[in-house]
Amino acid sequence: MKIGCPTEIKPQEFRVGMTPDAAREAVNHGHQVLIQKDAGMGSGFSDEDYTTAGAHIIATAEEIFATADMIVKVKEPQAVERKMLRPDQLLFTYLHLAPDPEQTHDLLESGCTAIAYETVTDDRGGLPLLAPMSEVAGRLAPQVGAWTLQKANGGRGVLMGGVPGVAPAKVVVIGGGVVGTHAAKIAAGMGADVTVLDRSLNRLKYLDDVFGRDFKNQYSTAGATLDLVRQADMVIGAVLIPGAAAPKLISRAQLSEMKPGAAIVDVAIDQGGCFETSKATTHGDPIYNVDGVMHYCVANMPGAVARTSTIALGNATMPFMLALADKGWRQACADDAHLLNGLNVHAGQLTYYAVGKALGIDVVSPSLAIKQ
Ligand SMILES: NC(=O)c1ccc[n+]([C@@H]2O[C@H](COP(=O)([O-])OP(=O)(O)OC[C@H]3O[C@@H](n4cnc5c(N)ncnc54)[C@H](O)[C@@H]3O)[C@@H](O)[C@H]2O)c1
Repeated sequence: MKIGCPTEIKPQEFRVGMTPDAAREAVNHGHQVLIQKDAGMGSGFSDEDYTTAGAHIIATAEEIFATADMIVKVKEPQAVERKMLRPDQLLFTYLHLAPDPEQTHDLLESGCTAIAYETVTDDRGGLPLLAPMSEVAGRLAPQVGAWTLQKANGGRGVLMGGVPGVAPAKVVVIGGGVVGTHAAKIAAGMGADVTVLDRSLNRLKYLDDVFGRDFKNQYSTAGATLDLVRQADMVIGAVLIPGAAAPKLISRAQLSEMKPGAAIVDVAIDQGGCFETSKATTHGDPIYNVDGVMHYCVANMPGAVARTSTIALGNATMPFMLALADKGWRQACADDAHLLNGLNVHAGQLTYYAVGKALGIDVVSPSLAIKQ
């Protein structure tokens, strides 16, 4: 198979769909890998890294889209890329179609087959191609929060780990899923006094069993959340209710009860955020002040550490990418129900129910689509 990887063109996107290691694996499996010139630069991979791995460097995205059997990307194809997709072509990338009717219609019109990273599942009921970015954002949250707490950035001037004789920072993590667990681990590792709140008793049991010595956990009620947030130096928002906007757990009025200079890192901002006062910010201008509380609300946190994010995403996508290339998408999806869950579009038909429901478009069962 010819596997093509164009340069990402969405603003502020520095990741790349294939690492040189992924390219090497594909070449070792007998495939031809076409990488657009400088595609890996934002993640610190040179064209030479790819040619050493056996890939071919191609000057333009047009040539890649015109010749590749499968396109491997990071972000959803932009309008100019969607125009280049072909009916016999396979697209493997993040799509997030439900809130994006324009993209959905273009993909249907193109006739291509599109497998979305975000809907591929695993045996534990997780989303294995979404999880790496939650891991990155979670681990990054205490790091950016610690920076926000510094005096020069408007923060309280509190050191995460304290020093002998001085108490560490109090960190509250709301939501103990992938983001929250990774955030709590890193904050605890920095020496902070960490409490994680969650609504799932099963999750709290897991956190207690595995991390009971590193950080505390508590059931998330409105009262417990407010009590902890009042005392906190840093609050990390990490809740998710699948398919819904993040619940607003701290109101504007309650914010004024927080300590002056406390830091909020609202990772859940990509779902609207869990503080009433949260609004999305960018890496260029990441923090703002409301009532003396510093808010960090960057919607694409993994972009700050593009190299780590690219490698983490590549590790997760590689086995699926190889299965698709080795067997063809039909057989690969027939053999793996989790990959089949990733099928969103085939030959002008929508094949993912939640997207169809959100956009009012008829859906064809993915198991029927692979037989067409
Ligand atoms: N800003 C970014 O760059 C970025 C990057 C990755 C993920 N995210 C976002 O971070 C959020 C968390 O993602 P995740 O992968 O950890 O999800 P997850 O499903 O693994 O975890 C969410 C947790 O929130 C808990 N929860 C739900 N309602 C709650 C409540 N009222 N109080 C306390 N806990 C509650 C759930 O029980 C679950 O354990 C999502 O909105 C995700 O989109 C943002």
